[in-house]
Amino acid sequence: MMQGAAPRQRREPVTVTVTGAAGQIGYALLPRIASGAMFGPDTPVRLRLLEIPAAVRVAEGVVLELEDCAFPLLAGADVFDDAAQAFSGANYAILVGARPRQAGMERADLLAANAGIFAPQGEAINEHAAQDVRVLVVGNPANTNALIAQAHAPDVPERRFTALTRLDHNRALAQIARRTGAGTDEITGLTIWGNHSSTQFPDVSQVRFAAGVQADIAALQDRQWLEDEFIPRVAKRGTEIIDVRGASSAASAAGAVVDHIHDWALGTPAGEWTSVGLLSHGEYGVPEGVFSSFPAISRAGDWQIVPDLELEDWARARIDASTDELVAERDAVRALGLV
Ligand SMILES: NC(=O)c1ccc[n+]([C@@H]2O[C@H](COP(=O)([O-])OP(=O)(O)OC[C@H]3O[C@@H](n4cnc5c(N)ncnc54)[C@H](O)[C@@H]3O)[C@@H](O)[C@H]2O)c1
Repeated sequence: MMQGAAPRQRREPVTVTVTGAAGQIGYALLPRIASGAMFGPDTPVRLRLLEIPAAVRVAEGVVLELEDCAFPLLAGADVFDDAAQAFSGANYAILVGARPRQAGMERADLLAANAGIFAPQGEAINEHAAQDVRVLVVGNPANTNALIAQAHAPDVPERRFTALTRLDHNRALAQIARRTGAGTDEITGLTIWGNHSSTQFPDVSQVRFAAGVQADIAALQDRQWLEDEFIPRVAKRGTEIIDVRGASSAASAAGAVVDHIHDWALGTPAGEWTSVGLLSHGEYGVPEGVFSSFPAISRAGDWQIVPDLELEDWARARIDASTDELVAERDAVRALGLV
């Protein structure tokens, strides 16, 4: 008789709720979570997927495909159109589903439409998720949607709410690698500051390269390249993708979600930080009470903002411009009585 391989020692499954599961990010993200890319090869995952009723059937189709991938780590996948059920027992909640901006829609209308999604989802997380729930908001406007969800989950520690700026971080990393010739894994010290929007500030002032790397390090001192090419290209990369691909970023957004939660769950590598949208308490002069992107490390499942980095005057001005935009968004949802 043939002897099979010894079964792997597996941990308890992690329950992950993903909203907007029938959308294009969902399609790129769910197989990666189920494959083990997010929590490693020894941690099974149970997926709970939330969709609007009209898209439930499509999400069920995605579940059929997940089944057909025969992922050894997938401990189950269920689709719901009810937030209370979808967030029940969630250890991680990834909020992707959002209302896109439609032609003629004012910013206040967009914020109000999304508040109608993120306020009840915050409440459902507060009531039904696991005690240790950790939340990542992806749906745009991600920073302010995170603020709305967090404001409706008073029993969840506020640092368990984050907004995705890892895609901006990865985009900037890729552009630095391209310009200098270094590998993306040979570059540290990059920070995205501010809003996940075209006002964001990708800051290379603290960038370091791995010892012995063959790279054009001086290129990062080229202020003209930074201001005229690098910063606008990173900040407007979403538009570039739409122009070229004919659809918005999905594979790269899913990749950034995997990176964000992977580092949150398992820790950022020693000596490195990444970029995370976190609720400000005035760190680096960012006004209190907005979700801004900061440099952050993850230890034991908690994000900590990296302290004491020096900011040049021009960097300060750019960070202020982006956080002014966040304050305006916050004030707009406050005027609607939502936070
Ligand atoms: N933060 C980032 O870096 C980043 C990057 C890329 C995209 N995004 C944003 O992510 C969001 C999703 O992008 P996509 O390309 O997958 O969009 P998509 O339109 O393909 O999919 C969105 C899905 O969300 C669902 N949905 C809408 N309202 C919902 C609700 N109340 N509950 C559950 N599901 C709901 C829709 O039915 C749809 O299936 C957009 O807001 C997009 O702007 C953010």
